[in-house]
Amino acid sequence: MNAPPEFGAGARERWQRAQDLIGQSASAIDTPALVIDLDAMERNLARMADFARAKGLRLRPHAKMHKSAELARLQMAHGAVGVCVQKSDEALVLAHAGVSDVYISNEVIAPAKLARLSQAVRDMPTRFAIAVDNTLGIARLAEALHHAGVTSSAAIDVFVEVDVGHGRCGVAPAQALALVQQVIAQPSLRFAGLQAYHGSAQHRRGVAERDAALAASEAAVRETLTILNAAGITVPLVTGAGTGSFVREASSGLWGELQAGSYLFMDADYAANEADPGAPTFEHALFLKSQVMSVSAAHAVCDAGHKSHAIDSGLPRVWLPEGLAYANGGDEHGVLSVVDETGELPALGETIWMVPGHCDPTVNLHDFAIGLRGGLDVGQVERVIAIQARGALG
Ligand SMILES: Cc1ncc(COP(=O)(O)O)c(C=O)c1O
Repeated sequence: MNAPPEFGAGARERWQRAQDLIGQSASAIDTPALVIDLDAMERNLARMADFARAKGLRLRPHAKMHKSAELARLQMAHGAVGVCVQKSDEALVLAHAGVSDVYISNEVIAPAKLARLSQAVRDMPTRFAIAVDNTLGIARLAEALHHAGVTSSAAIDVFVEVDVGHGRCGVAPAQALALVQQVIAQPSLRFAGLQAYHGSAQHRRGVAERDAALAASEAAVRETLTILNAAGITVPLVTGAGTGSFVREASSGLWGELQAGSYLFMDADYAANEADPGAPTFEHALFLKSQVMSVSAAHAVCDAGHKSHAIDSGLPRVWLPEGLAYANGGDEHGVLSVVDETGELPALGETIWMVPGHCDPTVNLHDFAIGLRGGLDVGQVERVIAIQARGALG
C-alpha cells in the first residue's frame, strides 16, 4: 500500500507558528492571513441569536460558511439548535469534532457517502438530518441505514426539499407529497419537514427585488403545505433562509427555522445589499491581512491574490488603509491603486486589511483563522480557530 502523502510538516509548522502568536499584537501576524475580528463576530452572533429568539424561531446557522467546529459550538452555545452543512463529509468532520446536531441541507445520492453517514448515525451521539428530493435518494438512504445495522426507528431526520424559486435542487409543490409518503413509509426515517431555501434571492440588491422573489417562495411553501395537509400529513417544520432573506421568512408565519450563515462574518458582497429595515446590523468580521511587497509609481502590489480569497462574488474590498482599490493581480498578487488623486499609495511592507468578496469559499482556502481581540490595528491575537472541514467536499 502506498504511504499517505506527507501533508504534515508544513501544515503543523504553520499551525504552531499561529499558536505562537497568541498574546501578540496584530502586527505580528504573517501575511497573507485569514483573520477574524472576534468582537465584531460576537456582536453578529448575538444579534442574530436575539433576532431568532425575539421571533420565537429556531436558528440553525449554515456552517458551510465557516467550516469550523469551534464556531458551530459557539453558535449552539448562543441558542442555535444545531448547524447546517452542505456535504456529508462536512457533517462527519463536524460530528467527529463534537458538534451534536448536524443537518445536511442538501441531497446526497452516492451509496458510499450514505454508507459513511449511516455508520455515523449508528455509532455517534450526534443527531443527523438530511434533505432529499428524489425517490432514489430516499431508497438508498434507507438501504444504507439498514446495511449499517441501524435498527432504531426515526434514526435520522429527513426534510423534503421544495424548489422555492432558485431553480436548483428541490421538487415542485405537487411532487412533494409522493416523496413525503415514501419517507414516512420507512421506519428508519423521520419526516422532519420541508427544506425551502431560495439561494438566488439572497443577493438581489434591493429590498423590493428580494421581497418579490421571496413572495414566490412563500407561495410555493404554502401550496406544498396545503397539499400535504389535505393528505392528512402534518409538517413539523419548514426550514430555510439566508442572510439576505431571513427577515422575510421570519415574518411569513411559515418558516420555523432560519439557516442564515454569512451573517457571522458579513462579506463584501452581502454588504452591497440594500439593508432590510427589519434586519439587525451585521459588521464585517472576516478579514484578510496582507502587506505591500512591491511598489511602482502607479500602483502598489500586495501579497494576497485569489489563492487567498475567492473572487466568484467580486474582489475583496480594501478596508484599511482607506482610499485604495484592489484589482486581481493573479494567484498570489493584488494590485492596489488610489481611488482618487488625493489618495496615497501604501509603502513597502505596509499592512493592508481587506474584506473578502465571498466568505464561504474564502474560508475553504485556509486551514485556520487568527482570532483577534480589540480591533484590527491595535488588537491582540486571542486564539487560532481551526477550519476542520476545509476541503471536505465529498
Ligand atoms: C441551503 C442553504 N441554507 C442556508 C444558506 C445560508 O446562506 P447565507 O450564508 O447566504 O446566509 C445557504 C447558503 O448557500 C444554503 O445553501
